[in-house]
Amino acid sequence: MEVIIQPSTAAATRLVARLIAKALRQNPLLVLGLATGRTMEQVYALLADMHKQEGLDFARCRTFNLDEYVGLRPEDNHSYRFYMDHHLFSKVNIERRNTHLPDGMADDLDAACTRYEHAIQQAGGIDFQLLGIGHDGHIGFNEPLSALRSRTRAKTLTPQTVADNGPLFGDQECMPRRALTMGVGTILNSKRCVLLATGTTKADILAKAVEGPITAMVSASALQLHPHCTVVVDEEAAARLEGKDYYRFIFQNEPEWAEFR
Ligand code: F6R
Repeated sequence: MEVIIQPSTAAATRLVARLIAKALRQNPLLVLGLATGRTMEQVYALLADMHKQEGLDFARCRTFNLDEYVGLRPEDNHSYRFYMDHHLFSKVNIERRNTHLPDGMADDLDAACTRYEHAIQQAGGIDFQLLGIGHDGHIGFNEPLSALRSRTRAKTLTPQTVADNGPLFGDQECMPRRALTMGVGTILNSKRCVLLATGTTKADILAKAVEGPITAMVSASALQLHPHCTVVVDEEAAARLEGKDYYRFIFQNEPEWAEFR
């Protein structure tokens, strides 16, 4: 794992957008794992800008989102399908048939999850997985105690997640209590992953995920097992990290990061 600390939220977000753009330019057939949430909105805005200004090409890119609420229709403006259409897919030249989210409306949710895993495999696996982190340490909707080898399945959300996302639904009671999510094991199978965390409220959980023990109580801590995981944070989210100086030293000295300094 490597940790990159940026001076501001804007700089952290921009670095992540540039990493995605670079991966897409290197491999136009990229299989991109996507996240939703407030943190990602600006990442998608930047990618849409890069498409418009620099011709960043999504024509052959395939995407798989981490998760979707159970029981929300794709056209529901609280669904993650709607979020993705709104923030990214409608703004770039991606083929709709190349964009995938778990089917939270399926009659048989288990079968839908199995199909999703199969579709990821058929695409050759996820090349680049984008991740955020929840206040309870979730990645995707892998809430505490998610098995570290779990695959796509239905999960019940924590009261913390309902409190965090409920306001987006207006009335918290309208928010689904369950979601389909790629498993921790699915995420660990991605070839590369990049986690973006910004803001003071993420500082405690981020320190646990990066520097604490690997535990199913903090799903993001499983990323310590990932062979190529980059955590990008702003100063606020980095506040509780003990190894900050070392992480900065790596960023300043690794040739791989020269173009991003
Ligand atoms: C949603 C997802 C979640 C979010 C996390 C942080 O697809 O993957 O793990 O990344 O809940 O959400 P925000 O950015 O709203 O704090």
